[in-house]
Amino acid sequence: MLNSFTSEYLDGLACGGFTPRPKVSGRLSSYDGLLMEAVGLSLPVGTVCAIGTGESRVDAEVIGFRGGKTLLMNLGGPAALLPNTPVRPVGAPGEAEVGAAMLGRVVDGAGKPIDGLGPIRGAGKWPLAGKIQSPLDRGRVLQPLDVGVRAINGLLTIGQGQRVGIMAGSGVGKSVLLGMMVRAAKADVIVIGLIGERSREVSDFLETKVAGEARGRSVVVAVPANHSPVLRIRGALRATAIAEAFRAEGKKVLLIMDSLTRVAHAGREIGLALGEPASARGYPPSAIAMLPSLIERAGTDVHTGGSITAIYTVLADGDDGNDPVVDSARSILDGHIVLSRALAERGVYPAIDLGPSVSRVMTDIAGKAHVNAARVLRRHLATYEENRDLVLMGAYRAGADPAIDAAIACHDSVLDYIRQAYDDTVSLEDAVTELVGVFGDA
Ligand SMILES: Nc1ncnc2c1ncn2[C@@H]1O[C@H](COP(=O)(O)OP(=O)(O)OP(=O)(O)O)[C@@H](O)[C@H]1O
Ligand SMILES: [Mg+2]
Repeated sequence: MLNSFTSEYLDGLACGGFTPRPKVSGRLSSYDGLLMEAVGLSLPVGTVCAIGTGESRVDAEVIGFRGGKTLLMNLGGPAALLPNTPVRPVGAPGEAEVGAAMLGRVVDGAGKPIDGLGPIRGAGKWPLAGKIQSPLDRGRVLQPLDVGVRAINGLLTIGQGQRVGIMAGSGVGKSVLLGMMVRAAKADVIVIGLIGERSREVSDFLETKVAGEARGRSVVVAVPANHSPVLRIRGALRATAIAEAFRAEGKKVLLIMDSLTRVAHAGREIGLALGEPASARGYPPSAIAMLPSLIERAGTDVHTGGSITAIYTVLADGDDGNDPVVDSARSILDGHIVLSRALAERGVYPAIDLGPSVSRVMTDIAGKAHVNAARVLRRHLATYEENRDLVLMGAYRAGADPAIDAAIACHDSVLDYIRQAYDDTVSLEDAVTELVGVFGDA
């Protein structure tokens, strides 16, 4: 009987190093729906406090202090609070529940299970903000990761430990593409952070994309748009912390975050509420500065051999070439996959626009013949796109330029290569064989 209390289970029961001092309590001095100020408290940033009791209790997180007052951010919904309501510390600064006990479960930003399967027992703990690592603990990206999508496996090969952005406008097929990868990726564990999306989309994603076999090896952290910005950021940190703990066990983890832009939006709400000046596109500097620290936590661990391959979606509509989130994501990530509305409108799904898409590690992880064939396909596509108008208008005369002739001749096979039904899986091996077979000897 006693043996069934594994040390992991007992650790789960322990309450960590934090011991709230008895009877510390302050009073609420101001509240504007989001930001609260309390007096008479001295607590570390990150502490969760209960404000009020009973029906009207809400939880808030300490996010800073100014002029002798503690600043807290509401974690719950709107609350009927009165001036001088007592404020009591109730929780340690951020730790996430992690480990095998989380597999198959869905939790919210605060770590509470929302899948109706009861409490999570025997979970380990991991700091929400991660553990500091030396840059030399990070291995290089040397092994490809099979994600089951032909165009990505063949043309934008993702490596284990790589951080990739999927940049696209709304409704271009990001969620469907992520769903394909959740189902087919050859990873030990898949951690999915659904941050700031519509609630309807969260349940849709869970029911249609994290179903069947994929559910058992997945952990989902879902924080929809109507939750407090602090919870949305906690959700992103929590998903990353869960992935880190699996990596520390030597597992090959795929971390999916939909969307990074909404995490930055949450950072923007907090920064502005704290009185930070808005700079680029209304984003205060802290909202953008948070992104590298989140993204840098993914990667390969040389000690355990585990890896976190991370895929972040970034909203980029129309002319948003100068959106600060797109910009900073592009500069920190090791590759980006751009989805194009024009392709989606022509019914080419997944609507991957190869021109601006790159995988910066592909040449390290793919064979020579593979890289060459991918280059040939890209060249044909680029030539076709450059001359597309001429060809469609009939202004191009066949035979005038052999490169254009070749591009026209193989344009259909290029599109066929990109196209893939959402319930279809193409392994890395098949994708490469097909690519080299068709475009290999040019
Ligand atoms: N592989 C596919 N095959 C067929 N249709 C697709 C495919 N991918 C996307 N679609 C179509 O595009 C629509 C929008 O896709 P999806 O919900 O993935 O977009 P999104 O980029 O996640 O949108 P949002 O910005 O609203 O989150 C789908 O409802 C579907 O009709
Ligand atoms: Mg979506």
